[in-house]
Amino acid sequence: MSVWAVLAAAGSGERLGTDRPKAFVRLGEQPLLAESLERLDASDWVDAIVVAAPPGWEEPSILLAEELGCSKVSSCVTGGQTRAESVKRALAEVPDDAAVVLVHDAARPYVDDAVIERVLTALNEGWDGAVPALSLSDTVKRVDGDRVVETLTRAELRAVQTPQAFVAHVLRDAYENGDLATATDCASLVEARGGRVKIVPGDYRLVKITDAADLERMAPLT
Ligand code: CTP
Ligand code: MG
Repeated sequence: MSVWAVLAAAGSGERLGTDRPKAFVRLGEQPLLAESLERLDASDWVDAIVVAAPPGWEEPSILLAEELGCSKVSSCVTGGQTRAESVKRALAEVPDDAAVVLVHDAARPYVDDAVIERVLTALNEGWDGAVPALSLSDTVKRVDGDRVVETLTRAELRAVQTPQAFVAHVLRDAYENGDLATATDCASLVEARGGRVKIVPGDYRLVKITDAADLERMAPLT
């Protein structure tokens, strides 16, 4: 079973507010992208990697992979306007004989083999996809502007992370036929096509780096 990883690294990092795309902001000694790239490359579960790079940062992305000795990087595509568009472009570089696609956000640097094993095991159990998730500690409300419309049942809610794993042809179908404009993760596109997606335990260390405070909190973990 061949597992291809798609590393979504093409975002601009608007909320981080730095002069460069988020993937090239320093986390410890290296660009943020280096951490997830090295970890995916070192994983025995991963056979090959396609990187979606920020427009104009394709060359630095390839150089970084070379510097790090990441020999599994097969190609680097130019990302699109949205995450879904970037993943779609990377998926086009995944060969037809790939069995599984593992999609990961570069904004979540500390991916590890334990979570990769959990999502892949779910596929072996017959699920179409699997996503790591955490229970919520805050109460979540649906709002309309500044007015609360409804309080959701917390026990039924999960905060979903990456890496997300999918049977390759299921993910391709979801990306060919889904509404990419509104999707914020891959699983939602698979769900919309009727795919069965399993929740597996996530990890606090997989929390996404979104703003400057996240970067400060996560840097000591390198
Ligand atoms: N991503 C991508 N292509 C885009 C937008 C996002 O590949 N056009 C990737 C980001 O690089 C990141 C992941 O999707 O690894 C999650 O996105 P997010 O955390 O929102 O990153 P940014 O879009 O860069 O940040 P912001 O929304 O603050 O601009
Ligand atoms: Mg974004």
